[in-house]
Amino acid sequence: MTTETATGLDQKTRDIIKATVPVLEEHGTAITKRFYQMMFENHPELKNIFNQTNQRKGDQPKALANTVYAAAVNIDNLEAILPVVKQIAQKHRSLNIKPEHYPIVGENLLLAIKDVLGDAATDEIIDAWAKAYGVIADVFISVEAAMYDEVKEVPGGWVDYRNFKVIKKEVESDVITSFYLQPEDGKAFPAYQPGQYITVKAVIDGENYHHLRQYSLSCAPGGEFYRISVKREDGVGDQPKGVVSSFLHEHVHEGDILPISAPAGDFVLDLKDTRPLVLISGGVGLTPMMSMLETAIQEQPEREIIYIHAARSGNFHAMKDRVNEITNQNNHVKGFTIYASPNEGDEFDKAGHIDFEYLSTVLPTNDAAFYFCGPKGFMSAVYQQLKEYQVADTDIHFEIFGPSDDITK
Ligand SMILES: Cc1cc2nc3c(=O)[nH]c(=O)nc-3n(C[C@H](O)[C@H](O)[C@H](O)COP(=O)(O)OP(=O)(O)OC[C@H]3O[C@@H](n4cnc5c(N)ncnc54)[C@H](O)[C@@H]3O)c2cc1C
Ligand code: HEM
Repeated sequence: MTTETATGLDQKTRDIIKATVPVLEEHGTAITKRFYQMMFENHPELKNIFNQTNQRKGDQPKALANTVYAAAVNIDNLEAILPVVKQIAQKHRSLNIKPEHYPIVGENLLLAIKDVLGDAATDEIIDAWAKAYGVIADVFISVEAAMYDEVKEVPGGWVDYRNFKVIKKEVESDVITSFYLQPEDGKAFPAYQPGQYITVKAVIDGENYHHLRQYSLSCAPGGEFYRISVKREDGVGDQPKGVVSSFLHEHVHEGDILPISAPAGDFVLDLKDTRPLVLISGGVGLTPMMSMLETAIQEQPEREIIYIHAARSGNFHAMKDRVNEITNQNNHVKGFTIYASPNEGDEFDKAGHIDFEYLSTVLPTNDAAFYFCGPKGFMSAVYQQLKEYQVADTDIHFEIFGPSDDITK
């Protein structure tokens, strides 16, 4: 006789799952690689959804399979993984992942496990994983269904992609250009929370598949347009240049149409918090910060705000005039600039990189809300410095402009 839990999985299945998670984790890289190979062979249409540059670079995101294993560890108590599911579901919703996609991922993950483990993956083990994946997928599907309903019900909201027209294209620095977007149908579109992003579907002549990329909204919500600000990725050395950022910079002009998904993401400014607000950005990581800064000065005119921005030099520093204007007009807002290799004539507060000593001189207190975004190395450094400054984990918020990664190490 077997006992069953609320998940409907019998005890034997749960025991097999828990016993085999370490084996799957041990072969994680091989399984992930094989999983993507098999999935794209069997379902090439999914190349329209997954980031093909990551696949070409050979650093396929391991996050998907790893999360399935982590969920499996909690198979007795899937409630425990709901916060993580909700976070991932924001990205999935933005990418328009649908219930019908889940069996495809499940089937190919199992094929990859079988392929990599060989005889060690007995029918019993594969059967147990098929059942567990089904239960985990159902949790994602139901969380995402609620998100699709929600975005449909917001006035002006939509699901899938909606055509927006580029009403203005504005150069912000040597590498960053802003695109101002309005719905092509002229109808309403929803506000968003400062810090959220949209997904752009790039349909590029001569390319076999679409390319999806996220871009944070870089102005305050509630205006007459959405604005994204995109860094042109030229590629270092003999690396190919970035597919979508180059397309946007070189081929998308005023009057052109971009299909985008509705704003998503949980890296959002908490406007109920009245303690000092500290915004820290590196390079193009300034986009969500500008949205937060513009919103905070409108909505919280008394709140103390410190904005620290790091850039290579003055000509790489986007939106500096706007930040200067804000700091000049608002005594409660202070701006600091760090340039890695300043040019002659650049005005800045510190040369070099952000460090603990500097942070501790410009920050008023560690009892504040901290938001940061930038390149991975910058983010790891800022994270360590905030920990050294004894900022509580609950006050540290960040966004990674790429596949989820651990910046705490
Ligand atoms: C939540 C979120 C918000 C974001 N917000 C913004 C934003 O506001 N502004 C912004 O500019 N970006 C933002 N991004 C990043 C953005 O989504 C894209 O990742 C970025 O524009 C690069 O896309 P791409 O298609 O141009 O480059 P890709 O083609 O994806 O290439 C990425 C990088 O890899 C390099 N590369 C390509 N092929 C190879 C290879 N074979 N070997 C080695 N290297 C290679 C490229 O040169 C490039 O630097 C955000 C990302 C996320 C997840
Ligand atoms: C239970 C099953 C799934 C789990 C546990 C899972 C988990 C994840 C995780 C952890 C991420 C990274 C999130 C981030 O970077 O912020 C991710 C991203 C992503 N997921 Fe899922 N996912 C599942 C199913 C699916 C399905 C069914 C699809 C579509 C076929 C899908 C498509 C994507 C895409 C396209 C990304 C962005 C990364 C990229 O483009 O390579 N996922 N998923």
